[in-house]
Amino acid sequence: MMDGDDKIRWIAKTISKLTVSIMMILGLVIALLVYYAIDPTIPAITNLMVNDDVDSIKDPERIENGIHVRTGLIEAEGLQAVINNCTNCHSAQLVMQNRMDKDRWISTIRWMQRTQNLWELGDQEEIIVNYLIENYPPRKKGRRQALNDIQWYKLEN
Ligand code: HEC
Repeated sequence: MMDGDDKIRWIAKTISKLTVSIMMILGLVIALLVYYAIDPTIPAITNLMVNDDVDSIKDPERIENGIHVRTGLIEAEGLQAVINNCTNCHSAQLVMQNRMDKDRWISTIRWMQRTQNLWELGDQEEIIVNYLIENYPPRKKGRRQALNDIQWYKLEN
């Protein structure tokens, strides 16, 4: 049991603890208000909400890790010519997934010109074809190698 003195001391302690807590909270609120007054956009918060997609909308020509973010094309000489002439009708994905040699690229371009209303590319054609065979070369290996040294197992039933 507490006697009178203990009780008073306990109440005094509690009040002083409460006062310290209230001062701390007030201090924090004042600091936030001052911060808000100086810069109402609160970049520390808004930066968290802006993600990469928004960035690529803001800057459609953004390059990240050697990749043109909007189209997914590799950044290299000729990139701009490819973007300007080859991403209007279909996605760049269709261009990237077709790995051809020079002759087949030229005949694909001719085919699009004949049948798909692709315009004359003029001196851009060589730049585009070079970009494609440099950055998306045809894959060398056609078939997988023949299997050898296989341990066949017997089917039993
Ligand atoms: C005027 C429109 C247009 C432009 C510009 C264009 N293409 Fe195409 N391209 C097409 C159409 C239409 C197809 C057929 C799409 C389909 O099959 O869905 C096609 C198909 C392709 C294909 C697939 C061919 C196949 O055999 O399946 C490739 C690769 C291609 N284009 C590359 C290019 C490149 C490289 C350029 C830039 C020089 C380009 N395209 C510019 C209209 C265009």
